Amino acid sequence: MAAGIAHEIRNPLNYINLTLDHMRSTLAPEDVQKRQLFGRLTDQLKKEVARINTRITEFLKYTRPATLNLRPIDLRAAVTDALSMVEVQAAENGIETRVEQRDDIPAVRGDAESLRSVFTNLIINGMQAIGGGGGKLTIRLSNGDGCARIEVTDTGRGIPPENINQIFEPFFSTKDTGTGLGLAIVRKAIEDHGGTISVRSTPGEGTTFTVELLSGGDFGGQMSDVSEAKTSI
Ligand SMILES: Nc1ncnc2c1ncn2[C@@H]1O[C@H](COP(=O)(O)OP(=O)(O)O)[C@@H](O)[C@H]1O
Ligand SMILES: [Mg+2]
Repeated sequence: MAAGIAHEIRNPLNYINLTLDHMRSTLAPEDVQKRQLFGRLTDQLKKEVARINTRITEFLKYTRPATLNLRPIDLRAAVTDALSMVEVQAAENGIETRVEQRDDIPAVRGDAESLRSVFTNLIINGMQAIGGGGGKLTIRLSNGDGCARIEVTDTGRGIPPENINQIFEPFFSTKDTGTGLGLAIVRKAIEDHGGTISVRSTPGEGTTFTVELLSGGDFGGQMSDVSEAKTSI
């Protein structure tokens, strides 16, 4: 159903995109000023098309039944990797990022790509909550009872109490250009893993998302991969 609708939207989008390319290469006005404006406007249209496509991809990710490729995951490596993706943006906005690890964290059984999207979404939300005025984004790793705990804490604007029950709902967003799908995808991914996610927030002070994933299970023959990953940190 969702995939069918997505297809119905993507086809005309594709057509629009191709037509824009065609117009740009054959119909650009002679007049320099008009040509510049034409170039700028068609460029914007192509960007909007790309944005709709990205939203469709996100929406499909949310509706598709999960097919998890479960492997032992080194959480420290996974969160460090996710943080490195936003390094430049963080520096530009005066955001200090760090990973704190209290215990020796055993590997968890998880899907690398799915967990990457979980951490990336939480990190980007945290950075957006901090904004351009600087702040701190901290990821803490610790062991819980039979689980590994990942806490993502920001010193951002926080979440008003009246919103806190809605943030995981698909399409709930307080941002001008937000899709409202980030946390819905995050929650679904964590539940697909048999884990839990919770949030606590103080408006004006910041927010912490806590993810718990089952750890210490029997990874069978794959255990050797885990120790290799650990020594390479
Ligand atoms: N770290 C955070 N600090 C403050 N508000 C947050 C944070 N993370 C999520 N939110 C709130 O939850 C809403 C939904 O988040 P999300 O599902 O990722 O969608 P989006 O980022 O597209 O708005 C956000 O619009 C914001 O209001
Ligand atoms: Mg988001």
